[in-house]
Amino acid sequence: EQVALGIDVGGTNVKVAFVKEDGTVLAQGSIPTDPERGPEQFATGVAEYAKALADDHRLPWESVFGAGVGLAGFLDVEKGWIEESVNLHWYDVPMGELLEKALGKPVRMDNDANVAALGEVWLGAGRSSRTALCITLGTGVGAGIVIDGRIHRGVSTMAGEIGHIQIKNDGELCNCGHRGCLETLSSATALVRHAKEAGLVGQSGDLTAKEVFDLADAGNTVAQSVVADMIRWLALGISVGANLLNPDVIVIAGGVVNAGDSLIEPLRAAFQEEALLRVARACNIVPATLGSQAGVLGAARLVFQ
Ligand code: BGC
Ligand code: NA
Ligand code: ZN
Repeated sequence: EQVALGIDVGGTNVKVAFVKEDGTVLAQGSIPTDPERGPEQFATGVAEYAKALADDHRLPWESVFGAGVGLAGFLDVEKGWIEESVNLHWYDVPMGELLEKALGKPVRMDNDANVAALGEVWLGAGRSSRTALCITLGTGVGAGIVIDGRIHRGVSTMAGEIGHIQIKNDGELCNCGHRGCLETLSSATALVRHAKEAGLVGQSGDLTAKEVFDLADAGNTVAQSVVADMIRWLALGISVGANLLNPDVIVIAGGVVNAGDSLIEPLRAAFQEEALLRVARACNIVPATLGSQAGVLGAARLVFQ
């Protein structure tokens, strides 16, 4: 029986899962990301952890026939290079090769939002979609475009970099060097930053995006206005993507999706106003259903494809 290893490299955790071709997860776990150790140490660390996890679950390493990896940032998937990963502070890193050496298996890489999108289309909220746009709201804002079950990458894996569409004139400076990018307005980090600037504080420790939504739900007008702003910009950003792609589904993923209706409902309403009528009519905006598993599942799916 064939098993694929899915690896999802996030800003705080690296998630790994062993997945069967029907999507069954045989084993999964995570370790802290720790990019300071450098790419080589990182690759060996992930491989050691994956092998130990396989051992614990009596999964023969020979049954693993490949690994898929999702990584934030700009990649060259053909070369297997990370060109620019601002969040991990890695530039020009041959991560594909490093992981192949450490794992002793063929490795396929892709953008983190692309693999999450593939996961959601395979087993989650985007099932049976024909053209899916899946937006991930986290440290940044990412997107994956999945057409007829396959990731659309463009010529250099940059398709879907929706977080760097500059939608606000003279807006805040983004990590990419431009101003007013969608991710300076609608990421979870931006939401928290703006909430703090507006005077909100965390109840126990640092303020989180979920707390901002909870405060808004509870009637806090400052939180409500911060959330409303975030949603308005997000609607504008996804309407650009939607007018371009004419998708049947837009999946919203990332931790803030736990906010549920207080995010999705107003987003749908604002999207109806921003997108072309016939685009909006054909398109359903839905919350992701795989949660933090979307990335590892999509990464594994890459291997089966
Ligand atoms: C990066 C994308 C990534 C997204 C979500 C953005 O800042 O440019 O590559 O998919 O964040 O992590
Ligand atoms: Na992407
Ligand atoms: Zn940017």
